Amino acid sequence: MATTPIMQVRNVTKSFTRGGESITVLRDLNLEVAEGEFLGIMGPSGSGKTTMLNLIAGLDKPNRGEVWIGAQCISKMSESQLAKWRTRNIGFIFQFYHLLPVLTAYENVELPLLLLPLSAQTRKNQVLNALDLVGLSDRLHHRPGQLSGGQQQRVGIARAIVTDPTLIVADEPTGDLDARSAVEILNLMGALQKSMNKTILLVTHDPHAAERAQRVVHLEKGQLLESAQMEAAGLALPTAISTGIQPHAPLAPGTPGERGRG
Ligand SMILES: Nc1ncnc2c1ncn2[C@@H]1O[C@H](COP(=O)(O)OP(=O)(O)OP(=O)(O)O)[C@@H](O)[C@H]1O
Ligand SMILES: [Mg+2]
Repeated sequence: MATTPIMQVRNVTKSFTRGGESITVLRDLNLEVAEGEFLGIMGPSGSGKTTMLNLIAGLDKPNRGEVWIGAQCISKMSESQLAKWRTRNIGFIFQFYHLLPVLTAYENVELPLLLLPLSAQTRKNQVLNALDLVGLSDRLHHRPGQLSGGQQQRVGIARAIVTDPTLIVADEPTGDLDARSAVEILNLMGALQKSMNKTILLVTHDPHAAERAQRVVHLEKGQLLESAQMEAAGLALPTAISTGIQPHAPLAPGTPGERGRG
């Protein structure tokens, strides 16, 4: 890789013990991501995509090996160091948004900033900026239940970017959305990478979503394969990737969804 990696997974092994039996999910895994790269991560259900993302985001620790973000080895940090580190460095986007239902869009986005030593004015500016970037300036005081799925996910994205994190990690962010909202969310993520040079890790089952990434890796039986290696090994690639079809015409980022509430 030409540029210095912003993220490195070094010889990581992760096992879980269930009912006295140990299952190794990730086996001696290595991965590097460059600053400003948009990486797609695919793989069958249960292959360990979420497990890997959790290790990279400092939500869990490997049994062996190290995860480096920038110049820091996060696998060596204590839980309290990690919690602090995560607030500043990781923006997590979830499939089911994980918004607090009693808080407004504004308050949900403000939450991570409350953990940082910022003035009230700076905090307000950052929240308004993030919600503006995702095209939701007109929904500041709506609660999640008063927003469409696509709008809720845009709140989720605003919350992920509001701290200006080192890495944005998204675990199937379009998995619960209709096709049109999914395209809007992917356009938005593409725009974050292109115009703001954000580093994005996107886990997805959807080949069309993965096409937005600059590079796609596949998790299979605890190992990572690049697309070229998948083809060389005679493993089937998801259709849209192997054929290079561009199925969606791009929309302007932040185009407000026209779906009803609920
Ligand atoms: N906390 C845990 N305790 C025990 N086993 C776990 C735990 N978390 C994950 N696993 C196991 O690890 C394997 C990988 O799970 P993971 O959630 O990472 O898969 P995934 O690739 O994200 O799947 P999906 O596409 O369905 O989301 C599964 O067999 C799962 O049962
Ligand atoms: Mg998963």
